[in-house]
Amino acid sequence: MASLLDLTAQGDVATITDDAYLDRSLKLMGPQQLYELWERQQWQSQAIDLERDKEQWAALPDEQKDEHLWGLSSFFVGEERVTTQFSGLVMAYEDEQEEAFLTTQQVDEARHMQFFDRYYREVMGLDQQGIADRLAIARNDVTDAFVELFDERLVETGKRLIADPSDIEAKVDFITTYHMVIEGTLALTGQHFMGDYYEKRDLLPGFAEGFSKIARDEHRHVAYGTWYLQQRCAEPAMRQRVQRTLAELLPLAAGVLVPKGYSVGDDYEFFGYTSQEQAEFAYSALSRRLKVIGVPLATASAA
Ligand SMILES: [Fe+2]
Ligand SMILES: [Fe+2]
Repeated sequence: MASLLDLTAQGDVATITDDAYLDRSLKLMGPQQLYELWERQQWQSQAIDLERDKEQWAALPDEQKDEHLWGLSSFFVGEERVTTQFSGLVMAYEDEQEEAFLTTQQVDEARHMQFFDRYYREVMGLDQQGIADRLAIARNDVTDAFVELFDERLVETGKRLIADPSDIEAKVDFITTYHMVIEGTLALTGQHFMGDYYEKRDLLPGFAEGFSKIARDEHRHVAYGTWYLQQRCAEPAMRQRVQRTLAELLPLAAGVLVPKGYSVGDDYEFFGYTSQEQAEFAYSALSRRLKVIGVPLATASAA
């Protein structure tokens, strides 16, 4: 019989297209299997060849440089945010296998931030400043919705977990915010469309390589979050919590990748795809995970 790893990208059930598999009886990969997968999938953010990217970047018109920078900024700042804000969840492990997996996720997020920082430094030429200055430059491009989600909601939920790592409700809220909304709905959607854009055009190949390795890690992270919520959502009260958090956060998430000059609900293009195509991709990924967790998406709107 095929394993979940054979059927999916990294055990992430959002990559299963056959609805027949998608319910609470589906046995997911647990922290130990995901930890072992991590050991097999090491990569070095400092070793990816960026020489062709430097040449291509130098030849791009300024207007196009601005567009790429805008798209990349949310990811650079986002990776910094999710690295530090992950500490509370590491403290909230419930057994040694989960402890091992969670520490790998935190170091993955640091590696992702390092990849973006190296890119800003070596390809975009921002090598006169420190990392904090490069992050401050990237922050000029993020939206108000981004600030509310990453600097307020994520940080507040993380603080509740740090204050009491045994608080299961806080842990469920944190994983819903971090793994379901930020990684599952936002990051993997942006990575899908942006990665496709660069690969199809053979543009910035070093970036495309790093970004696809980041996406591979993110699928593994979201597989953990789905596993955790599936366990906890045997209880109806926890299912309601997850639904409530999603209903609050999805409208905010919808505003994170809206380009300057547009509002949520407007039609626009992002890296060659329409806002509608992206919303549909995000919605179907989230709803597949929620079917396996056992939480209907009825009260939550699409991102
Ligand atoms: Fe990441
Ligand atoms: Fe992640």
